[in-house]
Amino acid sequence: MELGKVALVTGASAGIGRAIATRLAKAGYRVVITARRIHRLHALRDELLADDISVDTYQADVRDDAQLQGLFTFIREHYGRLDVLVNNAGLGRNASLLDGESSAWREMFDVNVIALSICTQHAVKLMREMEDRGQIIHISSMSGHRVPTGTGGMYSATKHAVRALTEALRRELRAQDSRIKVTAISPGFVETEFAEVMSGSRETAEAVYGRFPCLQPDDIASTVMHILAQPEHAQIHDVLMRPTQQPS
Ligand SMILES: NC(=O)c1ccc[n+]([C@@H]2O[C@H](COP(=O)([O-])OP(=O)(O)OC[C@H]3O[C@@H](n4cnc5c(N)ncnc54)[C@H](OP(=O)(O)O)[C@@H]3O)[C@@H](O)[C@H]2O)c1
Repeated sequence: MELGKVALVTGASAGIGRAIATRLAKAGYRVVITARRIHRLHALRDELLADDISVDTYQADVRDDAQLQGLFTFIREHYGRLDVLVNNAGLGRNASLLDGESSAWREMFDVNVIALSICTQHAVKLMREMEDRGQIIHISSMSGHRVPTGTGGMYSATKHAVRALTEALRRELRAQDSRIKVTAISPGFVETEFAEVMSGSRETAEAVYGRFPCLQPDDIASTVMHILAQPEHAQIHDVLMRPTQQPS
């Protein structure tokens, strides 16, 4: 049990973030869950409360720098520490390079890349003030390792950026002789609300997830727990996870 340690999970109102927050809370972490849909966060809080586990909810749109500042001020004032940051909030939009809306491109970069970097900066400050220990986990994607065919080019570009940022952060931390660790997890298809958000259609999403047995959000949560179980001298850099039957 990780009693006393504090974890922040972004995008915890659904899918992968919800599963990670649940596993962390059940393992004894004091977990702060954040997203825009506060009713979803409250539902998760109440579900865990039924098992005598408490988590803190914080409503924020990660595209808003002031709201992120407020989130980290809340963590500082309530806990005075942060041990784990899971940068999970993210989305894809079907917005091709030839015909897509630039507003959709910006939204993906703002959430998947800029907000992830701002949260990381706030988190590292808190961790360094403490014992200069902690673990940052970026939820990246297989689309950060190869470019898929279709209209997901800009989404893929955001995840390639996350891949670069993972290594860049590791190097900056090394240059400062910090003990803070950074890891990316790069999943293939995970059955969540992601495909419906991306396509704008429930039927399309069902077809995407119906082709073969996809990863489940808890599979990613298991990987997070494996990363956190490593000894201090071992840093897992990137974990590539595909459904067994995913071709590309
Ligand atoms: N599912 C997959 O196949 C897959 C594969 C590879 C990587 N990923 C990555 O996994 C991560 C989680 O996705 P998921 O599959 O769990 O999708 P999901 O079920 O759609 O969940 C996405 C989460 O991100 C949050 N979010 C989106 N925009 C936000 C914003 N502006 N401010 C705050 N929170 C925001 C959502 O919360 P609110 O809407 O309540 O704000 C939600 O909690 C993403 O980074 C995604 O790129 C997913």
